[in-house]
Amino acid sequence: MSRDMKPTTAKAEASHAAIVPREHLDFDLDNPDIPKYWMDNDAFKTRFFDAMSTLFPQGERFFITSVREFRDQITDPKLLQEVKDFTRQEAQHSMVHRQYNDRLKRQGIDIDDITRRMEEDLFQEAQKMLTPVQRLAITSALEHLTSMMCTCFFERKELLEKSDPRVRAMYAWHAIEEVEHKAVAFDVLTQVAKASWWRRNIPMFLITFGFPFTVARIMNAMFKVDGFSFMQRMGLWAKGLWWFYKPGGLFMPTLGYYISYYKPGFHPWQLKEMPSYGSWLQTFERTGDPIAAGNALHAAGA
Ligand SMILES: [Fe+2]
Ligand SMILES: [Fe+2]
Repeated sequence: MSRDMKPTTAKAEASHAAIVPREHLDFDLDNPDIPKYWMDNDAFKTRFFDAMSTLFPQGERFFITSVREFRDQITDPKLLQEVKDFTRQEAQHSMVHRQYNDRLKRQGIDIDDITRRMEEDLFQEAQKMLTPVQRLAITSALEHLTSMMCTCFFERKELLEKSDPRVRAMYAWHAIEEVEHKAVAFDVLTQVAKASWWRRNIPMFLITFGFPFTVARIMNAMFKVDGFSFMQRMGLWAKGLWWFYKPGGLFMPTLGYYISYYKPGFHPWQLKEMPSYGSWLQTFERTGDPIAAGNALHAAGA
């Protein structure tokens, strides 16, 4: 269980982070000095985070659309404002990840094909086959998985120790804002759409199995573009899956955070933001430099 998982109190919920949209941030992502394998000079680790980036622009547009479908039914002015700020944050994330994905395109990754598939899945199939509440429940579940990764990855300093500071800063900023708005889709789902426990949790259960396959398919395509032979790819997967799922690996320490979603009476602010959140915020407010803020967040990790 994440060390930062604490039971909620009225005070904790009242004092959670504000949702602050931040625009015109420059991570120097077009700099040719950024190494291809920017994370620990490791193809598997890098391509895992790269694959996530390829999904963000369409995925976040889907999140925005799913939440805004309920906008007219929201009567609470605070929640209405949070939906606006959530929308602005996600739109910025999409924009910056598109810039990053252009970099991947220059490496030969077929971003257009990934985008086309996402368009088909999220804006054609999901619109035809799912109800608005189901789409919102998927959004809420994916927002929980995102905030889980953001909170748990950035509190472990060793994980991103040998990463390029510019790409790490992009993920640090994204992580900060994901944590700030982590309850918005959930609040609309539970307070406005009034989804039952089942409607909230079945999509989470299905996504837990479906989402990793999507990421794995993209990673494997990237490894092919990178020139790895079949046997080399098998080696990468064997080593990488161990890194994912070994005790103390990438995902095992996130288990408690993940499971909490299924608890009756759960609310995202029962899980507080990462302890280093304040370091990012203070540095960004002082310098206006998202790379310095990313370095501060990393330095403050355990
Ligand atoms: Fe986002
Ligand atoms: Fe989000």
